[in-house]
Amino acid sequence: MNEADSRDIAASFGRRGYTLTDDLKKADAVVVNTCTVRQRAEDKAISQIGRLRKWKLARPDGKLFIVGCAAQKLGGKDLKRRFPFVDEVTGARDIEYFEDALAAQLGPAPETGYPDSALFRSPQSSYVTIMRGCSHKCSYCIVPAVRGPAVFLPPEEILQDARLKLAAGAKEIVLLGQTVNAYRHGKTTFSELLKKVLGLPGLARLRFMSPHPLYFDESFTAVLAGNPKLARYLHLPVQSGSDRILKAMRRGYTRTQYLDLLAKLRAAVPELAVSTDFIVGYPGETEEDFADTLALIKEGRFSMAFCFKYSPRSDRPEMASHLDEPAMEARLEKLLAAVKKNSRLVLNERIGKIEEVLFETENYGRTSGNFGCRVKAGGAPGALSKALIEGADKNVLNGKVI
Ligand code: 5AD
Ligand code: SF4
Repeated sequence: MNEADSRDIAASFGRRGYTLTDDLKKADAVVVNTCTVRQRAEDKAISQIGRLRKWKLARPDGKLFIVGCAAQKLGGKDLKRRFPFVDEVTGARDIEYFEDALAAQLGPAPETGYPDSALFRSPQSSYVTIMRGCSHKCSYCIVPAVRGPAVFLPPEEILQDARLKLAAGAKEIVLLGQTVNAYRHGKTTFSELLKKVLGLPGLARLRFMSPHPLYFDESFTAVLAGNPKLARYLHLPVQSGSDRILKAMRRGYTRTQYLDLLAKLRAAVPELAVSTDFIVGYPGETEEDFADTLALIKEGRFSMAFCFKYSPRSDRPEMASHLDEPAMEARLEKLLAAVKKNSRLVLNERIGKIEEVLFETENYGRTSGNFGCRVKAGGAPGALSKALIEGADKNVLNGKVI
């Protein structure tokens, strides 16, 4: 979400004639988009802001904006007291009003539309936010507190954003939100929204991130099965393989229910690739619970997983992990190794198959299942071509355009 917000913020600057730079010395404005999902992210954001003191001293005319979840959590007043050189603080809840904050500092935008495909997430792929916030209460998660309850954007607004990005050269759209498949606006459900976006001219592929296991229904399965433009890929966070821990996390499903859902979706779309998120070291996680998580990797046939060490986001003593840092690290390493091993197996299953590749360069693109794919020749940026998969190395497929 923060990455998508950053890109939209960059677009707001772009409409005022700004371009992106990695070189602080050249920057006329700096935006720090902060995250607080884990403590480390918040600490990094704070030290980054501290380091910008020097830039602001050298560039008193430069504008410094602090946005995002940590800004929301810590509060504008506190941040400005600690870092008086900051010009503007916009918390995650108010990010849709960033344009107003920018107008206050720099004046209104003379341009409309999407300024530059260089701001996409990849050369041909752009995020489109469809909801903000989250109405779940997962015990470990700070998102609902900093981003507020789920708010779904009107379908017309979403379609307009997608149209602008397609007009600017996007071939792929990634619909984004904390629980995207819970989408509902008036009579428009998630499945209906997917159909509307799938109907936009110029779209080669549609992705979404992240769904929640609780909100898939029959109509989604039908849309997935019936629309090859909808990526054969889900990033479906499971968090743990232990029922005891899932319950303590208030995830709302059991291990069996999660696996049954995957089985149902794969029965409709056998080539579906699935990746996930895991948290290790949740308070009370025993060796047995952790073993359940390890075993789930193979059962879920995950192509990839983001693995996180539990980071307490509340001061309540029962929310502290009983694991010390070395024990936490040991579990994380075991988990990462198991994920890597399984990814290899899942990748190798694609050898001999024909995959549709959306090319980013002449030699590299992504398959519908979100695997990277290299070809020697025949690719063209933005083109969707079929490739025969001949091999795999590390985490990338090798194919031949056919
Ligand atoms: N500690 C560790 N990981 C967390 N996540 C969310 N909150 C925490 C936390 N307190 C992870 C979850 C989520 C991903 C975006 O971040 O796995 O799916
Ligand atoms: Fe956090 Fe996702 Fe749970 Fe919402 S559904 S509380 S964003 S982990």
